[in-house]
Amino acid sequence: MSKTINLVTEVPGPKSRAIVARREAAVPNGLYKAHPIAIDHAHGATVTDVDGNTYLDFVGGIGVLNAGHTMPAVVDAIHAQAQKLIHFSALVGTYESYVELCERLNDAVPISGACKTILANSGAEGVENAIKIAKVATGRQAIIAFEGGYHGRTLMTLSLTSKTAFKKNLGPFVPEIYRAPFPYEYQCRMCQNSCSGACTDQLERMLLTHVDANAVAAIIIEPVQGEGGFIPVPKSYMQRLRALCDKYGIVLIADEVQCGFGRTGTLFAMEQMGVEPDIIVTAKSIAAGMPLAAVTGRAELMDKVHIGGIGGTYGGNPLACVAAIEVMNQFQDGDLLERSKKIGAQIKALGETWQREIPKVGDVRGLGSMIAIEFVKDRTTREPDPDAVAKISSYCLQHGVITMRAGLYTNCVRLLMPLVITDEQLQEGLAVLDAAVRSV
Ligand SMILES: Cc1ncc(COP(=O)(O)O)c(C=O)c1O
Repeated sequence: MSKTINLVTEVPGPKSRAIVARREAAVPNGLYKAHPIAIDHAHGATVTDVDGNTYLDFVGGIGVLNAGHTMPAVVDAIHAQAQKLIHFSALVGTYESYVELCERLNDAVPISGACKTILANSGAEGVENAIKIAKVATGRQAIIAFEGGYHGRTLMTLSLTSKTAFKKNLGPFVPEIYRAPFPYEYQCRMCQNSCSGACTDQLERMLLTHVDANAVAAIIIEPVQGEGGFIPVPKSYMQRLRALCDKYGIVLIADEVQCGFGRTGTLFAMEQMGVEPDIIVTAKSIAAGMPLAAVTGRAELMDKVHIGGIGGTYGGNPLACVAAIEVMNQFQDGDLLERSKKIGAQIKALGETWQREIPKVGDVRGLGSMIAIEFVKDRTTREPDPDAVAKISSYCLQHGVITMRAGLYTNCVRLLMPLVITDEQLQEGLAVLDAAVRSV
């Protein structure tokens, strides 16, 4: 088997150390960095640092590179576009790539009937826009979000985000946000290891005890929670949400920023949920590394906002639009969705072995190739073990695989390798991960 991983210095090497030291002097500490390496270039599923060490990338820029690093068709499209038009602003006039991308997203989302799309620059900005649209469309103010949910770090999205570690000293937060329990079966404190649907009952009870259903503009949910630990929403739960939204005229927003664009084996995770949302937010892998987000929803909702109520200078930049059109072509014409399912099946199979053989592996879960491994100190108490994850992450880096943590308790390893990873590369990277998991 030919090897991709090639470590030629210690990790981090001297050039990485020098650049990281400069970063530490020039950039605020609050900007987290998972690994102390400085990157020079990346292609497909491989990343090479400034010292010439080549790694396998199991993070994909945090779920941004499902279509792979520097995919040639994307690079060509960006080159060609850069020579013609880099920026104009959709607030000033129109360029065709913006319109074409919106048309294609309107056709692709699992929402029946006429849809419209507005483009923005980041996942957080996409979520902000979705909330604004839902508020104006319903004339209501309250939002229901979930425990463990992550929606970004702007003021509105940080208010929607659950994990308090992100929120320290940053209040006051946006009012009228109500938090419901998320169906996180493995660490559920309601049903004691055997799901009885208590969290769904609790959500409905909230409408009696916390907020009037007729004051709720939107329920926002990640169909597979990302930062929260790669937890798929059970289909039956999503169906209950849809029914509640229908009953009370609430907008159902699916935040597919991390779980979208092929990660789960379908272009959108909502395709597997048996019900439609009203609005879908996509970002990350939509444009293979160019900053872009899209808010796509039912046209009658999207059109409710007054002129000037949504938008921004850069949203839907031409370079990002052509990159996203190429990504959509790759998903339409290639086998990336099949790859996603296959990669997921291979990881799950390995995960089952770990669950049998390694007491610290509590849960291996996900949808398609969006898979996380949850570590616990003890299988019975399910006490989270974040230290195991820190050790695994460091072991993997030292052996040439880039991974990243996740989870409400920071006790999960999340896997988001580019879907263009070859079978040999996947096996090579999983062998390192296997050794890492067994080392704790
Ligand atoms: C589900 C979800 N929503 C929103 C965001 C925020 O996206 P961004 O970091 O591009 O602002 C993220 C980022 O990780 C995310 O995972």
